[in-house]
Amino acid sequence: MAVRTKLLAGNWKMNGLREDAEVLARGLAQRATVAGGGRPACELLICPPASLLMMVGGVLSGSGVALGGQDCHAAPKGAHTGDISPEMLADAGCSYVILGHSERRHGHGETDAMVRDKVAGAWRAGLIAILCVGETQAQRQAGRATDIVLTQLAGSIPDGATSGNLVVAYEPVWAIGTGLTASLEDIAKMHAIVRASIPAGTRILYGGSVNPQNAAGILTLAEVDGALVGGASLDADSFWTIACCCAEPAA
Ligand code: PGA
Repeated sequence: MAVRTKLLAGNWKMNGLREDAEVLARGLAQRATVAGGGRPACELLICPPASLLMMVGGVLSGSGVALGGQDCHAAPKGAHTGDISPEMLADAGCSYVILGHSERRHGHGETDAMVRDKVAGAWRAGLIAILCVGETQAQRQAGRATDIVLTQLAGSIPDGATSGNLVVAYEPVWAIGTGLTASLEDIAKMHAIVRASIPAGTRILYGGSVNPQNAAGILTLAEVDGALVGGASLDADSFWTIACCCAEPAA
């Protein structure tokens, strides 16, 4: 079986002005650099707001912590006021982009078809797409969680997906920013379902209120290949503590 190196991704969302963001990025870069051989057994990624990409990228340079965008347009360039293209993210030093996050799906009306076009755009620019999927509370209560997630996967992944260009993040909408997390059993179950419908070896992250207290339980589940962390990624100590919960990859 292929080794799946865990990925811990910090999604800063719409948080951070230059001064505090630089302190946060520097705190992470220092921990990653000082840790050297004692680094956590995972790849680290920070996805700051677009306004901070260049600055954060500069601070993280040489630390081994990767840079990613939080969203992008599908097109390479053009008359799309307020948007950012995958090529622009790559040009700013990004290697990843988060796509189809529930805050985009619900707050900006993004459909699976729109997300699929964005994933294709990300691949065109050489970025790895972190595709987010997840059910709402009402959908889970109605017994539709699996259906919803499988429909999102089927509709949002273009032809050409590989374990090298795609990461899936399972984020139950009701767990995002609420302090609620899915049970370990439900996480393992959904990850196994997701795994059966994506290319072998593709990493599946869990997201939704992951914090230093619950990270160890979640990140040591065999089906979990890392986490997408929002709130707790805004504190260098918390993010580092979560990173240190990543166990060695399954061989
Ligand atoms: P949270 O956000 O960790 O604050 O719940 C996760 C996410 O939205 O990616």
